[in-house]
Amino acid sequence: MPLPKPEYVSDVWRDGIFANKVVFCTGGAGTICSAQVRALVHLGADACIIGRQVEKTERVAADIATARPGARVLGFGNVDVRSPESLQDAADRCAKELGSIDFVIAGAAGNFLSSMNNLSTNAFKAVMDIDVLGSYNTVKATLPYLVESAAKHKTDGINPPLRGTGGRIIFVSATIHYTGMPLQTHVMVAKAGVDQLAHSVCIEQGPRGITSNVIAPGPIRGTEGMERLSTMANNADPSAAGRGLPSGRWGTVKEIADATVYLFSDAGNYVNGEILVVDGGAWHVPSTGPGAEFTYPDFLLNNDEIKGVKGGKKAKL
Ligand code: COA
Repeated sequence: MPLPKPEYVSDVWRDGIFANKVVFCTGGAGTICSAQVRALVHLGADACIIGRQVEKTERVAADIATARPGARVLGFGNVDVRSPESLQDAADRCAKELGSIDFVIAGAAGNFLSSMNNLSTNAFKAVMDIDVLGSYNTVKATLPYLVESAAKHKTDGINPPLRGTGGRIIFVSATIHYTGMPLQTHVMVAKAGVDQLAHSVCIEQGPRGITSNVIAPGPIRGTEGMERLSTMANNADPSAAGRGLPSGRWGTVKEIADATVYLFSDAGNYVNGEILVVDGGAWHVPSTGPGAEFTYPDFLLNNDEIKGVKGGKKAKL
């Protein structure tokens, strides 16, 4: 369904700043990533989103294309970031059909709440594979295109680049590993790896003109991620979930999209190897973060069943 602009991007950005640019996004049919891509498309970019589900990925791509008349948005389903071959094929098809890859968003992720006692080796591996290996596969598949784009879009930090910006990658991470959170061992280990991968891309590819950064969203309302982490995700009173957080509410996908536009735009030229936390200050007050309603440590010691969130699994005693 076409979305009104105020739901996914602020008015502060100039139309056309991403004209003739192409964004490649893994997990692009998801709630956060689709808003990021929609904002970039509204501001001029064409895009390719990839995902595992064919129908959903194609449907969301067609929907994102409504953000700007004439936009080209491809949806490649049946692509799993755990498969380097299918990812490489998707990146090559994207560059061939749309002309380049100038921006990458590594957004595919897996999440569910589980105590270590109920987390099998395979469950841990599934999240490591999607988040860490999947992000690495994304880098490997798109890097040659990003380097090519960076060479065409150099910036001197003063004059606006004639043909805009390019050669940039953003990894979508999290904040839960800064202070720690029960039931999230697999995700915290994975996201720490994703953060370091972003830093390593900066270190090794920065000299080739690449910028590589992380956006770490906090609790964002209306997202699949929060439906998997908090029983408050579908609370009828949106301010109830944010009570106790510094900004007093959960964030919106628009706020993550705006951070994305900033990092990819001429305003973000010298930001490299950084983590941009967009969480209303939530991680500084971890006791009110996602999952806080599962009382620590009683919940773990009782091996209670996780109820009221998406992606749950019956606890094994
Ligand atoms: N608690 C404990 N273990 C769980 C679990 C839960 N809630 N959900 C899945 N698992 C386990 C499975 O039992 C399996 O382990 P096993 O073989 O030992 O039984 C393992 O995780 C892999 O599950 P499977 O469903 O085969 O993997 P998948 O690759 O199809 O799914 C997941 C990947 C598990 C990450 C799934 O949650 C997913 O597809 N998530 C994508 C969407 C998402 O998480 N979005 C949020 C982004 S923030």
